[in-house]
Amino acid sequence: MTAGCLAGWIAAATVVAGTVSAADPDLEAVQTVCGRCHTIAVFLDKPLAWDRWNDVFADMTQRGASGTDEQLERVTTYFLEHLTFVNVNTSTAEEIAGVLGVGDDVAGAIIASRQRQPFANLAELRAVPGVDPATLESRKSRILF
Ligand code: HEC
Repeated sequence: MTAGCLAGWIAAATVVAGTVSAADPDLEAVQTVCGRCHTIAVFLDKPLAWDRWNDVFADMTQRGASGTDEQLERVTTYFLEHLTFVNVNTSTAEEIAGVLGVGDDVAGAIIASRQRQPFANLAELRAVPGVDPATLESRKSRILF
């Protein structure tokens, strides 16, 4: 899945100590993998669509970015959960699952529903069983229709 494009990276972790709290291991992995050459402030709070991020990841890999499989998986999770726009009417099931924080089954139900009728707003999305209203609320600025 989405980690695949990062999976070629080899282990070369350089821990930048003290810059992020250990409370979020995904963010910690982002700091370790992406904070080696520049501050992660260059992309935090600047969401992009997932294919744009994949272009950035490819570019950074070219420049020498690398990490363990576990770190790259965490980086993928962090970017999907915090920094990625999703269009629930056009995006892939994987992107929907990642951004909305739902399982493949719920993402599949969203796809099936939009094929019958596209989602018009957040309320319609919230009505899908398994979608967490609090997660939707906190990520709504990145959910497009
Ligand atoms: C091996 C060093 C290195 C690592 C590791 C690295 N980058 Fe970069 N990154 C660069 C360099 C060099 C630039 C400047 C490119 C330029 O100015 O053309 C850059 C620029 C960027 C930019 C553009 C910033 C701007 O506004 O111009 C983004 C976004 C970015 N990196 C994201 C990431 C992400 C995400 C990761 C982790 C997956 C990462 N980088 C890891 C070297 C690195």
